Amino acid sequence: MKNSRTLIVANWKMNMNVSQSSILLHRLHERIRIRREIELVLAPSMLALQPLSMQIDRRKFRLCAQNAYFVDEGPFTGEVSFSMLQDLVHYCIVGHSDRRHKFGESLEVVRDKVAASVRNDIMPILCVGETAQERKAKETNQVLHDQVVTALSNLTSSDIPNIVIAYEPVWALSAGSDYAHHEIATPEIIANAIKVIRHNIAELYGKKAAADVRVLYGGSASSTTARGILETEGVDGLLVGGASLNYQEFSGIIDAAYRMQTSSEVNNG
Ligand code: PGA
Repeated sequence: MKNSRTLIVANWKMNMNVSQSSILLHRLHERIRIRREIELVLAPSMLALQPLSMQIDRRKFRLCAQNAYFVDEGPFTGEVSFSMLQDLVHYCIVGHSDRRHKFGESLEVVRDKVAASVRNDIMPILCVGETAQERKAKETNQVLHDQVVTALSNLTSSDIPNIVIAYEPVWALSAGSDYAHHEIATPEIIANAIKVIRHNIAELYGKKAAADVRVLYGGSASSTTARGILETEGVDGLLVGGASLNYQEFSGIIDAAYRMQTSSEVNNG
């Protein structure tokens, strides 16, 4: 792993009302210290973003939306645009497998959301990953190629430093749409997939952009597995779902990331 800051993102998904979210943030504030080696990002529900933005210690956490719509304003009942989120969040998750598989978001919709996010100065965390069925059919590399290439096709190379990619194999999520197939992704599987992702980016935007882009892993990460995953080649951080809802578990993940960072600093002199 590169010796830059480790990025840890908590995806709270559709869990917790505003007061429960506020209590969890309070507990995390008490428990977590500011570490220059680690960047912490919280993605609460859309409803909790505004109240949490008043409560949050910005030296410790940044906020992230879980989704937004790609048109800036207009007759799109029920949607919230990236432009509306501009002053509120640093990041937005785009193309999560929940969105792709449960809400039918196509490759092109994800592409338009990535472009809208970048246009509005919000860093997209683009999620890509294959289902159990696709892995079984040996389509993983093709799926990753199609998801990465389409999603990034409306960007220029100067946009690439402002995006984050998350490799999230759907079959490894703790409660994803492939829950019945739930398995643990091995370091080898993660490293290979990330290699494919970086290769696709290199083809589009060159080797440097591909090496520099931050790539996270997501899928049942926990305080016990965090360090092993973070030490896997190509991994720059974690996108944490289920385990981020428990402050002890989530702070355990942050401690593991910190220990890994500080021991690699010692090893690198
Ligand atoms: P999980 O979710 O950690 O609960 O598997 C990760 C995600 O869906 O982003």
